[in-house]
Parts: sequence; structure tokens; C-alpha cells
Amino acid sequence: MNHPAHPLTGVTRALGGIAYGGDYNPEQWPREVWREDVRLMREAGVTLVTVGVFSWSRIQPRSGTYDWSLLDEVLDLLYEHGIAVDLATATAAPPPWFTRQHPEARPVTASGTRLAHGSRQVFCPSSPAYAEAADALVTAMATRYAAHPAVVMWHVHNEWGNHNALCYCETSAEAFRVWLQERYKTLDALNDLWGTDFWSQRYGDWAEIDPPRDTTAFRNPGLELDYHRFSSDELLARHHAETDILRRIAPHLPVTTNVMGTLEKKVDGHAFAAACDLVSVDHYLPAADPDGHIDLALNADLARGMAGGHPWMLMEHSTSAVNWQPVNVAKQPGEMRRNSLTHLARGADGVMFFQWRQSRAGAEKWHSAMLPHAGTESRVWSEVKALGAELAALGEVTGSHVRSDVALLFDWHTWWALELQARPSQHLRYLDVVRDWYEALWTLNITCDLVPPGADLTGYRAVVAPNLYLLSDSDADHLTRYVDQGGHLAVGCFSGVVDTYDRIRPGGHPGALRELLGLVIDEYLPLRTQDHALLDDGSRVHQWAERVEPRGCTLVRRFADTADGGPARGGPAITRNTFGRGTAWYAACRLPARALRELVRTLCAEAGVAPVVHAPPGLEAVRRSGRDHTYLFLINHTLSMVDVAVSGTGLAGAVITEGRAPVPPGGIVVVREDDAATSARPQCPPSASDRSAS
Ligand code: GAL
Repeated sequence: MNHPAHPLTGVTRALGGIAYGGDYNPEQWPREVWREDVRLMREAGVTLVTVGVFSWSRIQPRSGTYDWSLLDEVLDLLYEHGIAVDLATATAAPPPWFTRQHPEARPVTASGTRLAHGSRQVFCPSSPAYAEAADALVTAMATRYAAHPAVVMWHVHNEWGNHNALCYCETSAEAFRVWLQERYKTLDALNDLWGTDFWSQRYGDWAEIDPPRDTTAFRNPGLELDYHRFSSDELLARHHAETDILRRIAPHLPVTTNVMGTLEKKVDGHAFAAACDLVSVDHYLPAADPDGHIDLALNADLARGMAGGHPWMLMEHSTSAVNWQPVNVAKQPGEMRRNSLTHLARGADGVMFFQWRQSRAGAEKWHSAMLPHAGTESRVWSEVKALGAELAALGEVTGSHVRSDVALLFDWHTWWALELQARPSQHLRYLDVVRDWYEALWTLNITCDLVPPGADLTGYRAVVAPNLYLLSDSDADHLTRYVDQGGHLAVGCFSGVVDTYDRIRPGGHPGALRELLGLVIDEYLPLRTQDHALLDDGSRVHQWAERVEPRGCTLVRRFADTADGGPARGGPAITRNTFGRGTAWYAACRLPARALRELVRTLCAEAGVAPVVHAPPGLEAVRRSGRDHTYLFLINHTLSMVDVAVSGTGLAGAVITEGRAPVPPGGIVVVREDDAATSARPQCPPSASDRSAS
């Protein structure tokens, strides 16, 4: 299906294909360097650069004084050289004069320390002074550059909440009280839903409610959870304010902001993505993770889930090392290409980096860039040029869609709630459990969209919910309806436990899902680090087990009925329940990889979900479907050549011989599939993107 109306299509059409480039920070360099920049950008095949992210102190050197000379010249220069601009609103780094004038706008930590100037995002999200200064800047920027021919899109702020999402100052406290009054209307309702009668916390006046600042012992979980929501909403309100200005002054230009995916717990990524015309994300490989490429795939599938199945943009990643991890490991030769093309495989129509030219000074001078310190006589530069040429050759994939038959439910609210204080186990971490389930799907080459629990699920043959500790009434009904109408759902441990306010659902766990799963949980049985339980196939369970009483479900796998079977020995470990026309599975522990893979494999087989291709382990395969063709991406994570049976033509120089695509170790091959290959594929239900496009 074609989506001519999607705003990203407008951008890629203007660029003539995949967006390629990065953050361009010309204010760090003298004017002579800019000329070399644009020449080298052309040499590398750069088509788009993000300008202005950290330009506020140059654009507005003093309160009330704007100086456009730098941006005017740079935008003209880029335009003359055929390079388009994603223009940032520059509000992410208020200048020193602003802080000096408004010391009260600096954020305050939970322990009461007011942070000093000297970095970026030094502002309280609820500060009226910041709002006024930021809105004035955005208005001035939009007015000046709305009609500039280089500008093809707006980049609102930069990574909302990366450094300042949670502020505990008095201004925030006042804004929080207003937010609470809108949410609860009466203090009685708030007292009831937060359980303030415990520990004598009952409020008699809104003014008594403070942010969850550091205190003697555990904080009230309702208060803390709502503070996460409030803080995310405050920044979202800023995002809306900027976006409204841009849309009013320049309605022809699409708006985005770079969302951070799983890198950022503090703001609700789904909410920010929903407030953009086109979704863009940043991704950085966690160097300590030996399977960082799976984290990359997960975040790309989250980006696509946030984009409702539409193509999206990778706004930032790195050509090599970053500068903010304990050990900043440089990428291996070929790794940047593999990372970039994996994002492309999973639906990106833009591959961008932080940043164009590696800084000489400042906090990020040890962060890699497209043009490294070593200059053009370097491995990074040759790979950057080669990638530019390859992306140009792959331009025909823009606008095509990845169609997923499986949804993985990913939710910031449950993440916040699960990791509050005083839980059964501090070792059960949301991202770890999500990663377990994602990895099972990834290993089987089954593509999934990461979507919020309330997303429209009708187009998905199967749904997995790794760890929905918090589940609202409406989302619980939604999941129940999905299964009742014939859906296949698998639910991971410790799910459906609390309501929106972190209150236990009565009547036995998991209150929201008892009937759907056909069971009740007698007790949650977290395991100490040195302990384990055993499944009946002999595999070890760590961290978490549950004692389950079946109430109609079938037992698929048990804990071993031996001395080391663990605290639920002999009891159900995996169950399956028929509900209405569908099926609901439950994992009563943090399942070991093999058992989880088997569960996911069976779930998908029953739901009629096929892998993208049948290939040896370590060969990642993803398909994009366009109007005229499908494109198969084959990514080899092994150390040996892998040969895959395909029917089609290799793109960007890839050679297909006698129906086999040889994929070198660490390499990627992209195949434009023949019609026969396309029609041989199992028919997919419409994806979320099809539905939202109609
Ligand atoms: C991002 C940020 C960039 C740069 C980059 C370094 O979080 O948006 O400005 O700091 O990280 O990895």
C-alpha cells in the first residue's frame, strides 16, 4: 500500500531518497571551515543536516537581541550546495544570560540542590520564564526561516527530558498541584487512589502535597508514579507549545522531535511520538552489551511502533565510539554500515548521526562523528562516504513499509510503576524482561511492532505482553476483547497486578487477567541471586517464580517436581487458556531463553505467523513492502558466510547467483524480490499503518 500523504514521504521526495547526514554545529568552527564542510558533505552523499540544536547563545546573544548572521549564512551555503536542513528550535540549551536573569528557572534535585548552569537543558520544565523565552525564540526562528528554501522540516528541542525531566522545585510543586486537581477533582478521590491512609499521609489541603522529594523512608507510590506522569506531561506541554507555533507560522513544514526509545525512562516516548508529524529517534549501542545489535533492532521496532507502522527517521546514532559510557568502544570496520542498514531494514527512511564534524573542544569532543579528528584519511571517513553512496543506491526502498504480524506491548507507565520502591524484587527490571521476549522473536526472525497496550491490535495475529505489571481497566478490557475475538496473546510474569494508581487489584493476582488466563496466583516468589528454580525440561529459572493455581487453563510446562524445583516445585510454569475464540498463554516465571523461544514459536505457529525467512541462527532477516516490490534485508551477525535462498535481484552491488544470496560475515545484502517470491509469502493482515492511513 502506498502512503503518499505521509509527511516523511514529502521530505524524502525533496531529498531524492533516503535522508543521510547528521547534526551540523557550524558555530563550533570558523567560517572557512564551513566551505570545506559543504564540499565534504557532498563528497559523502549527505542530503540533510540538522542545524541549530545548540545555537541559542549565538542566535540570541543577549535578552531581546537576535543575531541571525550565522544561521542566515549557513542555511544559504547549504542550500547553494543542495543540502537540505532539518532546522532545530534551539531550545534545548538556554544560554548563560538566561540563567543569570532567571536563577529560579534552574532545576532542583530530589534532595533540594538547585543545579548550576554549565551544561545543557538547564531549566525547570514548569518554569514560566523558560516557557516565555523558548516560545519567543521559536516564534522568531519560525518567522525568519519558514520560507527558507533549504528548510524541509522542524526539529523541536532535542531529546526532551534527557537531563532535566524530574525537577523538584517550588514552581514544579505548584504546577503539580494544578495537574493533580485537574486529574482527581477532589482531595478525597486522590487520598483514596493514593492510599494515603497508610502511614497517616491523608491530605487535608492541596497545598500539603509536595513532589516526592527525598524523605525518611519509602515514598507514597501513587505520588511518585503521578510525578512521573506529571513531569512527562510538563515537557509534552512544552513540545505542544513549540509545535503549535511552528504549525501556525509554517504549516507546510513537518515537525519532529528526536525521541530516545528505551534510552529514556523518564518521558513517555509514545506520547511524544504521537505529537509529531513524523517520528524520529536516536539510538546508541550500549557498548557493554555483547548483543547490542538486538537492542538496536528492538529500538528500531519501537520507533516503527511509535510511527504507527509508517517509515521513520533515525535522527542520531554514532559512526564509532560515544563519549558517555564507562568505556567507549569504537565500532569495528563494517559495524556502522551494518547498524545503519539494520535501521533501514526496520523501516527508517533516514540515517543520521551525531554529529557531522568531530568537535575540537567542548564536552563531546571524544564522541565520534562523520568527519573524525583524523580527517579524510581515516577509516571512519571512507566508511561514511561508502555508506552515502550505498544509501543513494538503495533509494527505491523509501516509503516502503515493514509489516508485522506480531505486536509487543511496551509501556512507559508500567516501566515507572514496576521500578518504584518496595517491590517484591528490585532485580526484576522492565527492560530486561522486555528484552527476553523481544530476543525470542528476533532469534526466530519474526518481526514485531512495539506498541502501547491501548494500540489497535486488530491487525496483529499475535500479541506478547512481557511484563504489564500496571494495567489500566480499559487496557485490560482491550486485551480481553482481543483474545475473545480470536487473538493469540502471551503474557509474561508479574503482569496485570495493579491498576493505573499502583493499587493492587483485589480478588487474587493477576486481578486484571485472571479470567483471561484461567488461573489465579497464590503467591509471587522472587528468587535471590544465588537461588534458582528448575523447569521440567531441566533449564534454570532465575529471579522470579510464581505459585499458580489453574482455574481452567492447561499446563504446558511445570517447575520440576524435585528438591531443586524451587519454591513452586511441581507447579505450573507455562499455561495456555482458551478464551472465547482465542488463546491466552502465561509464563509464571522469568523464563529461560530456550523455553521462552519455544513458547513464542508455538504461539506464532498457532497464530499463523511465519518467520521472514528460514535461516541459520545469527542471520537477521527483515522485509519491507513497497507498492511495486518487496525488499528483503539479510544481516549476518556470524563469523562465517551464510547462504540464503532468495528469488530476486541484489541491490547496491549485491550478487545473487542461482537463487542464493551469499551474505558475508558481518555483512548485509538487500534483495529486491521477484513477484513470485512476494506472492509466495503468507498473506499478512493489514498492518497498523494501513489502518491509520485510510
Ligand atoms: C544525544 C544528544 C546529542 C549528543 C549525543 C551524543 O543524546 O542528542 O546532542 O549529545 O547524544 O551521543
